[in-house]
Amino acid sequence: MITEVRTNTLLEIKHMSVDYDSTRGTVHAVNDVSFTIERGQIFGLAGESGSGKSTLAYALARLLQPPAVVTRGQVLYYPREREVGETTRDDGAVDVLALNPAQLRAFRWRELSIVFQSAMNALNPVLDINTQITDVLRAHNPLMTATGAHSRAVELLKLVGIASDRLHSYPHELSGGMRQRVMIAIALALNPEMIIMDEPTTALDVVVQRDILMQLMRLRNDFDFSVIFITHDLSLLLEIADTIAIMYAGRIVEMGTRNDLLRHPRHPYTSGLLHSFPTLHGPRHSLTGIAGSPPDLRSVPPGCAFHPRCAFAFAACRTIVPSLLPVASEGAEVPPAGGGQGTCVACHLYDAKLNPEGPPESLESAYVN
Ligand SMILES: Nc1ncnc2c1ncn2[C@@H]1O[C@H](COP(=O)(O)OP(=O)(O)OP(=O)(O)O)[C@@H](O)[C@H]1O
Ligand SMILES: [Mg+2]
Repeated sequence: MITEVRTNTLLEIKHMSVDYDSTRGTVHAVNDVSFTIERGQIFGLAGESGSGKSTLAYALARLLQPPAVVTRGQVLYYPREREVGETTRDDGAVDVLALNPAQLRAFRWRELSIVFQSAMNALNPVLDINTQITDVLRAHNPLMTATGAHSRAVELLKLVGIASDRLHSYPHELSGGMRQRVMIAIALALNPEMIIMDEPTTALDVVVQRDILMQLMRLRNDFDFSVIFITHDLSLLLEIADTIAIMYAGRIVEMGTRNDLLRHPRHPYTSGLLHSFPTLHGPRHSLTGIAGSPPDLRSVPPGCAFHPRCAFAFAACRTIVPSLLPVASEGAEVPPAGGGQGTCVACHLYDAKLNPEGPPESLESAYVN
């Protein structure tokens, strides 16, 4: 039985935690992470290397391998058409962590596809581009003819700005930017509702990077898919993402619309990140970076994991782990129509009980010389 679902929510991640077990200790790579993705939304995930971005993305796509273990959490997916089966709940959501291997195969590609970190090196070197695209198409559409698959491959390459005369090129005959475009074309092949892109443009020069991102925005407008865009480069997200979540040591420490984050960063770490990259829009500022380095995730500092690097830390920060809570103060941006979450921050500076004086007027002092 299929009925239409009227909700704007596409994916809900609830209290997700992921560990890597090893003889040298347990790495708590993702710790109690919750967020919601709306249909058509570009959701940016930023944070320094090792903060758990890829682990989180692969956990929600059920792509993690041992020694990774999802220790807690739920991933709920709301398909456009509600198909009632044993993994569909009463509210129409599919419990992704409960899918069996066959259901998972159908879910990936059709509903969700992934452009992996350093994906452009993941193309098969001995097959031409046409074969690699048509293989995906025909594996998931057994009734598709060779001609049908070929014309769809041409169409997909056109969508990502590659001329059809490159269809029979081998990966080594293409530039890095072209290979990355091919990976995006493959991710789009089955019209998924959501694409996870893990550092899709990091290895490319800024002009090519910009071109690909603009193309991605156009494709999103035309086809209305959602994107989880992962990068360590916050300035890039400030150009393309609707909502941005900042990760530090396995937790989301701030989440809000890109305007809110840019104009009014609440977490000292977000403010530090903003001063680590030149931004194209917004006020000019000097670049200073954040002193110190991220913690070893086998022994995260007690309390707020950022406290040893934070210029604003006070006693409670050393002992109490801050929760990610909505910002009640004035100036918090209202979430865009259709849902989404307002600005949230995990920082004791905003806890009226722990810090009755309230947060400092500006966090800039810590990052401006
Ligand atoms: N297979 C593994 N075994 C043990 N620990 C791992 C494994 N993969 C990742 N980790 C650890 O998990 C943590 C999070 O790694 P993850 O790759 O998710 O970070 P990331 O934010 O994607 O970093 P980057 O920006 O460098 O890609 C890191 O501390 C990393 O060392
Ligand atoms: Mg990564």
